[in-house]
Amino acid sequence: MLTLTNNFAAHVLDGLNRPPSLPKQLQPKYFYDALGSTLFEKICCLPEYYPTRTELEILTDNACEIARAIGRYADILEFGAGSLIKIRHILDGFQPLSRPLSYTPIDISGKHLLRAARALMATYPELEIFPRVEDYMAIKELPKPSIRPIGFFLGSTIGNLEPREAIAFLRRAAILLKGGGLLIGVDLVKRPDLLHAAYNDQEGVTAQFNINMLRRINRELEGTFDLNGFSHYAYYNPGRQRVEMHLVSNEDQVAEVCGTSIELREGETIHTENSHKFTIAGFQQLAADSGLNPTKVWTDRAQLFSVHWLESLV
Ligand code: AVJ
Repeated sequence: MLTLTNNFAAHVLDGLNRPPSLPKQLQPKYFYDALGSTLFEKICCLPEYYPTRTELEILTDNACEIARAIGRYADILEFGAGSLIKIRHILDGFQPLSRPLSYTPIDISGKHLLRAARALMATYPELEIFPRVEDYMAIKELPKPSIRPIGFFLGSTIGNLEPREAIAFLRRAAILLKGGGLLIGVDLVKRPDLLHAAYNDQEGVTAQFNINMLRRINRELEGTFDLNGFSHYAYYNPGRQRVEMHLVSNEDQVAEVCGTSIELREGETIHTENSHKFTIAGFQQLAADSGLNPTKVWTDRAQLFSVHWLESLV
């Protein structure tokens, strides 16, 4: 816990203590404190935010085929598992005898994860569940040896990574999941107005989620940010195939973080998140380049979202 906090302080200062000529940034993994996780769950239910419900629809519509791809004796590792809803839909696609042996959900939102894991244990008492409060990027080996290691990376969380990081993650997954495969949810390139709406909801929940990063810094790192001094700003950047989220300073201001003064000019931004979008072919190429064989893909009718099954080649 202490190291997590110290890391948080170091990362925040590294991202913010920069001259106006260098873009200020914060890492999106720090959105997920207790309030941030709750706000994210609210986002997932918003009418404009299509990814969660579309992915869930894809998982339920193809539950049997997905169960067959995963196969018997599976040990599932879920990266950034969140509220553990999706695993339920996947488990329900299995015949009783071919159910997975174990499920290891990994998430940095600790209390949230442990609460969800307890609820899951009550519904699936025969499944071994080993929740791990960790940054999924730090996972270097399997929690235990397995003949059929399966990774889940859902919700298009991969979109948060820079292309280079995404390849590095997939390469590591290919090695980690040798003998098994990766089930991954990937958001698709689409009309910019639909993307814009998904990150600029009417109710302002996404804005709250974005601003909450500063609220967290105020609480955990002796921050003095004026939460009204910033505007939520999210837009689709078609050249880079990504939605960018920023916090734009409404005025010249100075805030303290851990005793360090952070200066912001009017209009200066703090870049808080990228959410990369993919074409199906583009993602399959990325997977193949990373040592994962894209053998199956499922989508919804409107082609808003995709779920891929990647076999480990190594
Ligand atoms: C959890 C990273 C997939 O990028 O769509 C939702 C986070 N940010 N609304 C996404 C998010 C703003 C989400 N991911």
